[in-house]
Amino acid sequence: MKHSEAEQRAVRAGSVPKTMRAAAIDRFGGPEVLVVRDVPVPKPGAQEVLIALDTAGVGGWDASFRDGSSRSESKRMPLILGVDGAGTVVAAGSRVRRLKVGDRVYAYRYDNPRGGFYAEYVAVPAANAARLPDGLDLLHAGAIPAVALTAQQGIDDALAIKRGETLIVHGASGNVGSLAVQFAKLRGAYVLGSASGADGAAFVRRLGADAVVDGKREDLAAAARSFAPRGVDAILAFVGGKALTRCLDALRKGARVAHPNGIEPAPKKRRGLKLTAYDGEPGVRQFERLARAIEGAELKIPIAQSFELSEAARAHERLAQGHTLGKIVLRIRAG
Ligand SMILES: NC(=O)c1ccc[n+]([C@@H]2O[C@H](COP(=O)([O-])OP(=O)(O)OC[C@H]3O[C@@H](n4cnc5c(N)ncnc54)[C@H](OP(=O)(O)O)[C@@H]3O)[C@@H](O)[C@H]2O)c1
Repeated sequence: MKHSEAEQRAVRAGSVPKTMRAAAIDRFGGPEVLVVRDVPVPKPGAQEVLIALDTAGVGGWDASFRDGSSRSESKRMPLILGVDGAGTVVAAGSRVRRLKVGDRVYAYRYDNPRGGFYAEYVAVPAANAARLPDGLDLLHAGAIPAVALTAQQGIDDALAIKRGETLIVHGASGNVGSLAVQFAKLRGAYVLGSASGADGAAFVRRLGADAVVDGKREDLAAAARSFAPRGVDAILAFVGGKALTRCLDALRKGARVAHPNGIEPAPKKRRGLKLTAYDGEPGVRQFERLARAIEGAELKIPIAQSFELSEAARAHERLAQGHTLGKIVLRIRAG
């Protein structure tokens, strides 16, 4: 694969500077507290790689760290936001074998103690990064590590979806949901996607759902009953609340319900249903399996809007408006 000029500059030996630009906060608040500043480039430890980032993903969890509703383990300010992204390895610790300088990688580490991904460089354990799957460029790769691992682990681990099963993806127009629909189709499931708005419904249909309902205006439980009259086998929920609770009545006895931690309000346990709450986890095995699914599904990765690193506050304003239908990303390096 051809490397851009910016990447070539970054991988040239000795080209890692001492300081870098990063979008960080020094107090909790609205998007305006997110400001670009000069901070030290982290030095990779023995098991870590240093990545010159091209793209960073922007997600709801970043806004929670920004406004203080989620607290970082690291109490230090300034706090660099961002949990995932993609770029080129520019340095590798002495014990790293799997990755090398010059590899194009994508990576995910939630609340990275070495600093977040809204930055020119990030240091992460090598197990939190992987080479790009075939056909994925740095822009699209940087948009998906957190959401794709979460989507796939919902389908393959929490629910263990099998060919021919019926599945509801609730919140299918969102970032995790839009990928979960595609991974469920890859496994041969029949998918009813609940989306937000007519445009959200059209978006989810384009991603391959067999049936779609506007979950904000239509009755999801009724749609589920006509989708699978003998009862739906499983539901993967990316939104909590009344529509989800009512929809649980449309599941068959023994059906599985799963959701990532963080949806509000989370569904309560119910007799006759198997409820699983989980977190999307990075790791060598997880990234290998994700690569196979990305290649198998010919994954569509919609990007709603991209912003320069210096526009991180604007990216958060856009995030707060909701209804993005695709991922918001920061473009850190031109090229
Ligand atoms: N624990 C973990 O590892 C983990 C990892 C990733 C995500 N999460 C959690 O998973 C959840 C989803 O994340 P995300 O990034 O995919 O969020 P998102 O992009 O905001 O997705 C939610 C989607 O659901 C739609 N929606 C809202 N109400 C609906 C309804 N009644 N019926 C149908 N659709 C509805 C939203 O539409 P509008 O935007 O138009 O309202 C949006 O398209 C979040 O709670 C996040 O914190 C957890």
